[in-house]
Amino acid sequence: MTEIGAIPVPSDAGSLAARELPFATPGGVSRLVHAAAAAPSVHNTQPWRFRRVDDATMELYADLDRLLTVIDPMGRGLGISCGAALFNLRLAVRMSGHDAHVTALPDPAARPDLLATVHAAPGDPPDQDERLLHDMIPHRRTNRFPFDGRQLPREVFVDLVHAAHAEGATLVLVKGRTARRVLDMIGTAENTLAAEESYRVELACWTDPSRRFDGVPEHAFGPRPRNGELPMRDFGLDGVRSSADFEADPQLAALFTRGDGPLDWLRAGQALQRVLLAATAQGVSASMFSQPLDLRPAQHRGDQAGPLGHVQMLVRFGYGSPVPRVPRRSVFEVLDPVEVPRV
Ligand SMILES: Cc1cc2nc3c(=O)[nH]c(=O)nc-3n(C[C@H](O)[C@H](O)[C@H](O)COP(=O)(O)O)c2cc1C
Repeated sequence: MTEIGAIPVPSDAGSLAARELPFATPGGVSRLVHAAAAAPSVHNTQPWRFRRVDDATMELYADLDRLLTVIDPMGRGLGISCGAALFNLRLAVRMSGHDAHVTALPDPAARPDLLATVHAAPGDPPDQDERLLHDMIPHRRTNRFPFDGRQLPREVFVDLVHAAHAEGATLVLVKGRTARRVLDMIGTAENTLAAEESYRVELACWTDPSRRFDGVPEHAFGPRPRNGELPMRDFGLDGVRSSADFEADPQLAALFTRGDGPLDWLRAGQALQRVLLAATAQGVSASMFSQPLDLRPAQHRGDQAGPLGHVQMLVRFGYGSPVPRVPRRSVFEVLDPVEVPRV
């Protein structure tokens, strides 16, 4: 602290603007919610809502109207999607020079849809890693096109493993015969789902070309794998699409959490997003497979955890060509209007 006349001036006065509480202005709120809403979500349902509590506090809610009742009746995919949005929100808060204190599921009995409260408290300026991950938010994409077959260098994969670990999850490379078994399992799940009328109806709803701000648009479906070996989720089940050769030796990884409840899904989502942003920073593309997990609530209720816990996502990594972004709803649609007190 230095003194000018009688007025004490903090020595970091030059950075005071940067330390403005993150939700103090409409511009700040909009910037942070925009960053959060850039997260990936199952079928691009964007199943989140945000409510500003005060200059330092934001709440994240599950938007249960957007729950996929056929493939996600328990809300696992919804929880992972919201966890990914939560990670982006935390990063964006850090950019304001505050720590983001998160209380997950603060009131599960009375308000189970309130997934997290994020409270900004004085903190250190963001470090280089945080800045890099934050800068990657608008560049991350799901890439369902063929990758060029180059293997990820070991140190790149180690970086992704660390990213998951930093969020309390475990990422493991799936190789060799295990990879083949996992791909077979995904393929079986994809065929089982595709044969179910209710699945097709739900998928058609979220791929309807009249959707402009959510759902998966046709340009993001990717081609059908010609060799049929890579069980990409077929977003255009009834449509005619081009086919292409995908990489012969796909690089798969599985993301695990210790438990398999709402808190674990939020954790998995934060870890997934950290991994995906770290991959983006390394020029690595990714797509996801969750078809076997879609079937889990119906067929594997009460799953026993393996030694690493429960699989929450299967991710395919590689080097792909750039793909366009898919749309998001505007900040105004996902942010609850500020309640004006009645007089
Ligand atoms: C929980 C979850 C499950 C997902 N499952 C799949 C999947 O099985 N197949 C797939 O191609 N993409 C999957 N995705 C990716 C989403 O479809 C994608 O995030 C969404 O369409 C938005 O596109 P973007 O990631 O390019 O922003 C999943 C994403 C999340 C968060």
